Amino acid sequence: MNPISNSVTKRDHSIKINGSAVYVCDYPTEGMLFGRILRSGIAKGTVKNVKLPELPQGYYYVDKTDVPGFNEVHMIQDDTPVFTDNPQFIGDPVGMLVGVDELLVNEFLLKIEVEYDEETPVFDARLSEDVFFAYDIDKGDTDSAFANADRIIEYSYETGLQEHIYLETNGMIAQYKDGKMNVHGSMQCPYYLHRAVVHATGLRHEDISIRQDVTGGGFGGKEDFPSTLACQVAVAALKANGKPVRVVFEREEDITATSKRHPSYCTYKAAIKGGRITGMIVDVLLDAGAYTTMSMVVLQRATNGACGVYDIPNIKIHGHARKTNTIPNGAFRGFGGPQVFFAIEMLMTHIAKELDTEPVKFKKSYFVNQGDSTSTDGVYHFPVPLPVMLDDVLSDSGYYEKLELFKNQNGRFRRGIGVSAVFHGAGFTGNGERDVIKATVRLSKSADGKVEILTGNTDMGQGLLTTLVKIVAKELDIPPDDVILTLPDTRRVPDSGPTVASRSVMIVGELLRRACLSLKNEWIDGEEQTVEQHYRHPDFLIPFDAEVFKGDAYPTYSWAVNAVEVEIDTLTGYISIPGAWGSFDVGTPIDENIVIGQMEGGFLQSLGWGIMENCAPRNGKIGNKLLCDYIVPTSLDVTDMNVRLYVEEYPEGPFGAKGAGEMPHVGGAPAIIEAVQNALGINIYRLPFMAEDVMDVLRSQKAAEKEVR
Ligand code: MTE
Ligand code: MOS
Repeated sequence: MNPISNSVTKRDHSIKINGSAVYVCDYPTEGMLFGRILRSGIAKGTVKNVKLPELPQGYYYVDKTDVPGFNEVHMIQDDTPVFTDNPQFIGDPVGMLVGVDELLVNEFLLKIEVEYDEETPVFDARLSEDVFFAYDIDKGDTDSAFANADRIIEYSYETGLQEHIYLETNGMIAQYKDGKMNVHGSMQCPYYLHRAVVHATGLRHEDISIRQDVTGGGFGGKEDFPSTLACQVAVAALKANGKPVRVVFEREEDITATSKRHPSYCTYKAAIKGGRITGMIVDVLLDAGAYTTMSMVVLQRATNGACGVYDIPNIKIHGHARKTNTIPNGAFRGFGGPQVFFAIEMLMTHIAKELDTEPVKFKKSYFVNQGDSTSTDGVYHFPVPLPVMLDDVLSDSGYYEKLELFKNQNGRFRRGIGVSAVFHGAGFTGNGERDVIKATVRLSKSADGKVEILTGNTDMGQGLLTTLVKIVAKELDIPPDDVILTLPDTRRVPDSGPTVASRSVMIVGELLRRACLSLKNEWIDGEEQTVEQHYRHPDFLIPFDAEVFKGDAYPTYSWAVNAVEVEIDTLTGYISIPGAWGSFDVGTPIDENIVIGQMEGGFLQSLGWGIMENCAPRNGKIGNKLLCDYIVPTSLDVTDMNVRLYVEEYPEGPFGAKGAGEMPHVGGAPAIIEAVQNALGINIYRLPFMAEDVMDVLRSQKAAEKEVR
């Protein structure tokens, strides 16, 4: 492996281990005001009247009439209100109560009486007529593939909501003093907040600063939502006479009011001729929730990934995201990929079973190769290492031996094993990087030869503070201790784009590496020097046209093969995970420990989504809103996790690195659901598939046995 992969101690290791890291809730509260958000109790309608209790001095209420700029949270589209009197989901923010004593603020909040005019909400995306976004892919000649088919196989798949459960809940502090607005807190994308706060407050760009505090996890959940919270606290701060206003959520509010992974409904029709798939017609529906937030880009990734790692010559894919009166769904590690990769992986297995062939070999015979065209008529420009990775994982996990061993089980415990093969397009979809983000990075050298990295990117646990420093130290050939990198403040750093889409190491890291090359060239001892680098689109790319969905959606891809073994207790339905194996190609790991940690964590998160995590709202309301009933897996759930890295270097990434952080969340769920369906001898079409679902299957299997007797 490249020597840069050798692991070092993470830069923020000791402050996190010894507890001195300052999160937003750790700031001294002396002189601070506390805000609590008044949230809609209805899923759709209008607020007729808000009756406040009598508020003592030092307490005040803000709502949309206090928003001096636009009452819109600026994102991709601006339909999310800062505060609303026309709620579109249970939890939609109506106003905020602010005061000096947090407990009293809570008490007064409960005493507010709200009168509504209710309208009929829509909770099921399949019944929604409100299409936020739609895309179509049309490749090859699907009509004749279907006209000439021997048979057509059709299946539908569903996936549920997923909550991020970052350890630190959302929180933000804003202070408006001497004409300056300072906002800081937990976030992924300081410049998103900056633009949103400009838009909502009407203040000048240069009078606003956004600073990231140490952030205890984001996983996409702090990509869009912090913009909303920042606008709300900033508006409240405008009325606070110079005092800071703080809002930090309890877990319950974080679960019931912030973004989730989009639920999905996918229907596949496959044309079969001579035992081979000749075409597919796919419908991908995402439940966007009440506002558009990130749905446009999540849907783009779901649409172009719907045929997975398979080379299907003729395809039509219709992707659409529809409005429902539920919490707006946004970014979550994998970004629309996990939903469709679950569907296509199950589909390929189900078709193989129908055709009476062995699923893994069947899948392998369709793997894409370097030079093949993608679903959007782009090209897989670089080697596709899937066949080797698959062989590694099959042998690491003992896949075929176990399949044999697990036949005809009839004791209390039944085992199963499943495997999946997936990709993740590295970085933004299409031309986002070139046309929208236009990243800039800066290096600033002081007279004593120390070099400061200036980017707007954030470390939320994925290790960016460490990996960016390693890249710069290595390229400048100076000790890492001479490289300075602190959490970003928009007053000091250029806009190098958001920390999303696993782009930071690959894109921002490479820009920094190139900045190092110029600095090295111009280096003058004893002088202060600054260099900047701007994003350059790789020349080899086939331009992406989002209108017709054609071209290279991604410059390159990361790849993964996962295998999971389960053991099902037929008495309780409980699914345990005796082993999990993965091979991941994310290019050169900039730090091996960090990347392995990323792979293990994302893999685990994906398994949780498959068999544990359920927060489906009933009538628009999420019932399980604490960590005692929204269950996420821990390291104790998979004590034997085996991760190996396969390195296919990406020439445009720093030292060969490509997108890493999201890759592991794509393939775990289909692998574990395949394992469960093998153990139970059934087909499964949805997730989560939990103990309750296992019991239902076992009960109906028993009933059927009785009938046969
Ligand atoms: N790892 C930790 N520990 N915490 C996180 O919040 N977010 C994930 C992933 N890994 C996350 C994480 C998501 S959603 C993304 S997009 C990538 O990290 C960002 O990685 P990057 O720094 O390479 O852009
Ligand atoms: Mo990650 S879902 O792109 O923040």
